[in-house]
Amino acid sequence: MRRRSLPLSDVYRHLEPGPVVLLTTARAGRANVMAMSWHTMLEFEPPLVGCVVSNRNHSYAALVATKECVIAIPTAGIARQAIACGNVSGRRGDKFAAVGLTPMPATRVRAPLVAECYANFECRVVDTRMVRKYCFFVVEVVQAWIDPRVADPRTIHHRGPRHVHVRGRAAAAAVEGEVTVTPGHAAALPAHPPPPSWPSCRRTGR
Ligand SMILES: Cc1cc2nc3c(=O)[nH]c(=O)nc-3n(C[C@H](O)[C@H](O)[C@H](O)COP(=O)(O)O)c2cc1C
Repeated sequence: MRRRSLPLSDVYRHLEPGPVVLLTTARAGRANVMAMSWHTMLEFEPPLVGCVVSNRNHSYAALVATKECVIAIPTAGIARQAIACGNVSGRRGDKFAAVGLTPMPATRVRAPLVAECYANFECRVVDTRMVRKYCFFVVEVVQAWIDPRVADPRTIHHRGPRHVHVRGRAAAAAVEGEVTVTPGHAAALPAHPPPPSWPSCRRTGR
């Protein structure tokens, strides 16, 4: 193998666990949605998912307070809206409206489903022991919805600032499907600093 040293800050790009998802929350009647790519499966059944939600995000406070969320999985057709959810904060406005996504009532949690996503998982927070240190929430999927018409979802995969890849049926499709996203797409909301600052958690002690 030929090799070159890789900046440690780029390690995550090669270990990126899965599709970019949307994490929705609802607090005091206000729904919000953020992009999330730092998540990992922890158990088959009941399905447990580990999620890093930075305490710099508005969604963090809602998740801590309500212990409920929805993990929705977008596909290539709404890549720009999905990434826009990660480039602005819902702190001062309705991000759903700003990016053009539709909240739909869920059945087991107050956080909304995202109508445009092919999969929606209603979740409850079941373990917060690593929140203080890593902003890492363990959530349990209590209800899962899937669009039966979508047989081969072309999911979106984060490859670093301003780049996502789209999963296609073949590797070539993934390359062709590369999307360059313009930060600040959701101009109606105040932008806040884009990646790479997003994953970091304000450490509150070890
Ligand atoms: C592709 C992508 C993936 C992201 N993944 C995460 C993540 O895993 N965890 C996180 O805390 N923030 C992540 N972010 C950043 C948040 O989505 C972003 O800070 C968002 O504006 C937070 O919104 P809120 O303040 O309305 O909660 C990601 C952003 C993008 C564009």
